[in-house]
Amino acid sequence: MKILAIESSCDETAAAVVEDGGRILSNVVVSQVDIFAAYGGVIPEVAARSHLEAILPVIHKALDDARLTKDEIDAIAVTHTPGLLGSLLIGTLTARTLAILWKKPLYAVHHLKSHIYANWLLPAQGGMASVPQFPLLALVVSGGHTQIIYMPGHNQFEIIGTTRDDAVGECFDKVAKILGLPYPGGPSIAKMALQGDVKKYKLPHPQVDGLDFSFSGLKTAVLRAVQAECGLSITTPSYELKEYLSEQQKADFAASFQDTACDILMEKVKMALRGHQDVKSLVIAGGVSANAVLRQKAVESLLEASDGKIEVYFPELCFAGDNAAMVGAAAYFEVASGVKPTNPYTLSIAPRTAIG
Ligand code: KG4
Ligand code: ZN
Repeated sequence: MKILAIESSCDETAAAVVEDGGRILSNVVVSQVDIFAAYGGVIPEVAARSHLEAILPVIHKALDDARLTKDEIDAIAVTHTPGLLGSLLIGTLTARTLAILWKKPLYAVHHLKSHIYANWLLPAQGGMASVPQFPLLALVVSGGHTQIIYMPGHNQFEIIGTTRDDAVGECFDKVAKILGLPYPGGPSIAKMALQGDVKKYKLPHPQVDGLDFSFSGLKTAVLRAVQAECGLSITTPSYELKEYLSEQQKADFAASFQDTACDILMEKVKMALRGHQDVKSLVIAGGVSANAVLRQKAVESLLEASDGKIEVYFPELCFAGDNAAMVGAAAYFEVASGVKPTNPYTLSIAPRTAIG
C-alpha cells in the first residue's frame, strides 16, 4: 500500500510516499528554520504563510521522486493534531482537497503517533532492520510533549506519564536562550555541551510523583545558577545574561543541563519499566530523540535495567525531527489495525489532542 503523507504541524513543510509502513519511496522536507533563526523562535503567522508557498511544490516533488502518478497512490495521510493552528490548516486543507479530487481515502494522523512510528521506517539507504516488539514503552520527547506511553500492540496507546508543565524540548530551547545559543536550542545545546564539563554545575531533579515529569523548575534552576555564577541579582533579565558568560561557562552550563535533563528522562523510563515487566522494547521518539547523550544513556540504562533483554530503538537521525515519512508509517498501521478513513468533507483539526 502506497501512502502519500503530508506534515505541516509546525515549521517544516513535508511530503513523502511510504510503502507498507516502512519503505520510503520519497521524502521531501522544506524547513523554515533559517527564517526563524533570526527571530529566535517560530512566528505562527509566518509559518502558515510559508507552508502555503511550499506545500504544492513539496507534494509534487514527493510524487516525482517516488516516480509515481496520483493514480498509483492508494491513500493520503495528513497530520491533523496537535500543532500550530495555521500550519495544520494548510496541510489538512490540502490533503482534504486532494482526497476529494483524486478520490482517495484520507487518514488523519496524530503527530505523536507519527513520531513513534518513525521507528518502523526502514533504513533510508536500504537493507533490513529489526522493528520494535510489543508490548513496548515509547518515550516521546519533542518541543511540545514529554510522555511515556505503553503500547500493548499496534495503534494502542496508554499514556502512563506526562509533563505537568514544560516539555523537555521546550526546556532545551529556553535554556539555549538563557545561554545566548542560536535557535533551535536543542542542537545548539548538544553542540556546545561537547566542550563542557557535565559535573561543573549541580542542577536539581524535580520531585514529581509517579511517572510524570516537570521541566519548568530545571529551566529556572539554570537561570538562577547563571545569575549566581555571574554575580547578578535574580531580577537580571534572562536575555542580558549571555553578555556575562564566557564560552567555557556556556559550554559547562550546556553540558550540565543536558546531562541532568537526560538523567531525569531515564529515571522515569526505568521506573516505568519496573512497573511494566512485560515490555519487550523501548522506543524513543520526537525531536529530542536526536540527542546523542540521551541515546547513549538510554542504551546504558536498558543494559543495566534489563541485562540487554529489552531493545532500545531510535529513529534514524533524519527522521527524528518533523517529516512526512513517519506520517505515512503511522497511517499504514492505522489501516492495518482496522481504522476507517476520515471524511475529507468534515475533517477538523481541533477535536483530538490526546494520542489515540
Ligand atoms: O519533534 P520536533 O521536531 O517538533 C515537535 O513536534 O515539537 O521537536 C522539536 C524539539 C525542539 O525543542 C528542539 O530543540 C529539539 O526537538 N531537538 C533537540 C535536538 N534536536 C532537536 N533537543 C536536544 N538535542 C537535540 N539534538
Ligand atoms: Zn514533532
